[in-house]
Amino acid sequence: MMTEPVCKVADIIYVRFELTEFEEQKKYLHHFGMMLAHEDENSIFFRGTGTSPYIYVATKGDENKYIGTAYKANDYSDLEALSKEFNVDIVENTEPGGGYKVTLIDPDGIEVEVCHGMNQAEPVAVVSKVLNTGQSKARERNVVQRFGNAADEWQLKGDKWVYELSSKVKRLGHTAINCRDPKASVDWYANTIGFLVSDNLVAPDGNSMGAFMRCNQGDKPVDHHTINNIALPGDNYPGPYGHAGYEVSDSVDDLMAGHYHLKTNGEYFHEWGIGRHLLGSQMYDYWRDPHGFTHEHWTDGDLIDASVPANDVSLFEFGKAQYGPPPPATFGHSMPIEEVNKVRAEVPDLYEGVLKDLAKMQKEMEKEND
Ligand SMILES: [Fe+2]
Repeated sequence: MMTEPVCKVADIIYVRFELTEFEEQKKYLHHFGMMLAHEDENSIFFRGTGTSPYIYVATKGDENKYIGTAYKANDYSDLEALSKEFNVDIVENTEPGGGYKVTLIDPDGIEVEVCHGMNQAEPVAVVSKVLNTGQSKARERNVVQRFGNAADEWQLKGDKWVYELSSKVKRLGHTAINCRDPKASVDWYANTIGFLVSDNLVAPDGNSMGAFMRCNQGDKPVDHHTINNIALPGDNYPGPYGHAGYEVSDSVDDLMAGHYHLKTNGEYFHEWGIGRHLLGSQMYDYWRDPHGFTHEHWTDGDLIDASVPANDVSLFEFGKAQYGPPPPATFGHSMPIEEVNKVRAEVPDLYEGVLKDLAKMQKEMEKEND
């Protein structure tokens, strides 16, 4: 039975990491298309073009690890309700965003910060291009289409051509987390911060493998998913961090520019893409940072309100894109870059691995049921 959640958060704000070094990470985040908002000896804060004062935070530590995710509460009374329910203090946020927050721990040990009253950043103006399509010729006559500095974005650096224009990240849109017990995780996010299930991931045996969940803001449309809680097949728990997904400021060209920027830069590891997801419908492109954590550029996702009921889908639908390359076997696992190729040498992609087994299993079960 549905119980009323302790609160209903409005959106996601930032992800928090602990890192052993900042310089390489700062370089990556610039290339990924974020802007440094603030830094001190112990922390770095990066923002997008949207109104969040920052969307990525890292503090200096002994390990490279994901700490957690922050969400935005609509009202201070939401913090009071969480404080009472979980017996945690409401504290003043001493970081540059200001306001107040409570910090909870989810079933997989992930810190969940719920914040209220943070400063809003001045958004950075972005001019969208008008696209001609097969159906609509919307662009003004006699006007040529140019992105950034057009062909001048290609610069010869040493002996290689580098595409200079990066994506312009707008905001953090979601995280994907690996769960030991997906039902416990889905229930926790539903009961604590009011997330609704958009898609339930159901294994061929009927067990839950996780879900795509969104904020409950009533009539107001929100992203199809603000979290994807998933128990990836396999014997070893890969750690809680799957990826963080950031919406780019403009559309497909913004995503594509970022792809060629990171690719021709030659320093970073491409994880998966470019394609269009089935669940959430967004176009995606995933890149690993120097510490082995994956970050996604996305654009053109589905927006849905609270009236849409949960949908049951198979893991097969999770792995399959509407179009795009197969997901690599390393997808969803954080690991040092050196290890990624070792894993991929054994199992090149999820179509050849677990999804093939699942598809066979599903077909056999369908035959039995006929
Ligand atoms: Fe994603």
